[in-house]
Amino acid sequence: MKALGREARMPGAVGGSSRVAARAMRAEAPGARPALALLLLLAGARVSAADSPTAPPLFNVSLDAAPELRWLPVLRHFDKDLLRAALAQIVWDNVPEWVLTLIRKAVWELEFFLPQPFIDEIRGMCDALDFSLGDCILLNLAYESTAFCTSIVAQDSRGHIYHGRNLDYAFGRILRNLTVDVQFLKNGKIAYTGTTFVGYVGLWTGQSPHKFTVSGDERDKGWWWENVIAALFQRHSPISWLIRTTLSESESFEAAVYKLAKTPLIADVYYIVGGTTPREGVVITRNRRGPADIWPLDPLNGAWFRVETNYDHWKPAPKKDDRRTPAIKALNATGQANLTLETLFQVLSVFPVYNNYTIYTTVMSAASPDKYMTRIRNLG
Ligand SMILES: *[C@@H]1O[C@H](CO)[C@@H](O)[C@H](O)[C@H]1NC(C)=O
Ligand SMILES: *[C@@H]1O[C@H](CO)[C@@H](O)[C@H](O)[C@H]1NC(C)=O
Ligand SMILES: *[C@@H]1O[C@H](CO)[C@@H](O)[C@H](O)[C@H]1NC(C)=O
Ligand SMILES: *[C@@H]1O[C@H](CO)[C@@H](O)[C@H](O)[C@H]1NC(C)=O
Ligand SMILES: *[C@@H]1O[C@H](CO)[C@@H](O)[C@H](O)[C@H]1NC(C)=O
Repeated sequence: MKALGREARMPGAVGGSSRVAARAMRAEAPGARPALALLLLLAGARVSAADSPTAPPLFNVSLDAAPELRWLPVLRHFDKDLLRAALAQIVWDNVPEWVLTLIRKAVWELEFFLPQPFIDEIRGMCDALDFSLGDCILLNLAYESTAFCTSIVAQDSRGHIYHGRNLDYAFGRILRNLTVDVQFLKNGKIAYTGTTFVGYVGLWTGQSPHKFTVSGDERDKGWWWENVIAALFQRHSPISWLIRTTLSESESFEAAVYKLAKTPLIADVYYIVGGTTPREGVVITRNRRGPADIWPLDPLNGAWFRVETNYDHWKPAPKKDDRRTPAIKALNATGQANLTLETLFQVLSVFPVYNNYTIYTTVMSAASPDKYMTRIRNLG
C-alpha cells in the first residue's frame, strides 16, 4: 500500500521519496576509515573552515499565550511565501498520496483525537499561513519517519552529565533554514528549551533546566504510515510531542524516564535522557506500546557513555551505516577526564558521525542550562 502510494507519485516528484534518500544516505557511508587522529584533524578543519557552524535563531514562545497565538511572533520572522513553499515541499517529499487523501478526509475526526496544546498550536500556525489543517497535521507527522541521528549521553570523571546529538535528515536543504532554538516561557521564566523546525510543534531535542535533557532518534520498523494512522486513532502520542510533554510536566530525571518509557507512541523510537547527578543517563529503546529495553550509564563498571544511532544497541551496527563505532572510538580517544561540551561537540564532528545529512548538532547539560548550544551544520 505504501509502495503503491509512492510509486504513483514518484515520476512527477522533484524531491523524490524520503526512503530513497535515506537509502542513498546509508549506501554512501564508507567502508574504510583513516586513522582516528587524521579524522579528528579533518573534522577540526571542517568545523573551522568549510562547515563554519552557525547558531540558529533563538525565539521565546510564551506558554502563557493561547496555543493558537503563541507561535505567531516566530512566524513573523520568516517570509510567508518562502515558508509556505518550504512546508508544502516537505509534505510532498514525505507523505504518500494515499495518506494525504485519507487525512484530508478524516481531518475533522482526527482533530478530535489529537492532544492539546499541539492541535491548537498547529491550527494557529496553519491559519496564519493559509494552509489546510490536514496538511499542517501531516507536516507535523512527516519528520517523524526519516530522522537519522546520533545521540550520546556521557559522564565525566567528576560526575557531570553531558548530552549531545546530531540530527541527520535527507531534506536538509530546506530544514537548515527552518531550524530554530526555542525557549518556552511560563510566567516569563524559561520552563524548557528545545530545537525544532519552524511549523513543527514537537521537539526532537530539549532541556528542562536543572532537571534533565532529552533527544530522540528514529527506530525504523517499516509500514510506518499504516502504523501511525492506526495509532493516532488510538490516541497514542507522536514521538516528538511526548518529548515536549515530558519537558513540560516531568519534575525529575526519573519521572522523565518513566514517562518516556511508558507512554504509548505512534511509532518506535530511541529516547536518550541525561540528568544532573552521577549515573543519570539512559537510552530507552521504545516499542509503540512500551519499553523494549532500558540501557543506563554504568560508570562504576567503565560504561561512562552510551552512544545510540538508529539501531538496537544489543545488535551490531550495520556495516553500510556504522556511525556507532566511530563515535565510540572518538569518545575513547577523548577520555572521560577530558569530557566537556566542547569535546563532545568535537566527537559529533567526526566523519561519519557528522555527515552530509547532518542538519544540526546540539550539546547540553541539564545542570548548566545556559550552556545549551545548537549549531547548524553543512551550511557552506
Ligand atoms: C536558506 O537561507 C539562505 C541564506 O539565509 C538562502 O541563501 C537560501 O536560499 C535559503 N535556502 C532555501 C532552500 O530557502
Ligand atoms: C526571552 O525571555 C527571557 C526571559 O524572560 C529574556 O531574558 C530574553 O531576553 C528573551 N529573549 C528573546 C530572544 O526574546
Ligand atoms: C573503547 O574502549 C573500551 C574500553 O577500553 C574498549 O573495550 C572498546 O573496544 C573501545 N571501543 C572502540 C570502538 O574503540
Ligand atoms: C586529555 O587531553 C590531554 C591533552 O589533550 C591529553 O594529554 C590527555 O592524555 C587526555 N586525558 C585522557 C584521560 O585521555
Ligand atoms: C558530501 O558532500 C561533498 C560536497 O558536496 C561531496 O564532495 C561528498 O562526496 C559528499 N560525501 C558523501 C559521503 O556523500
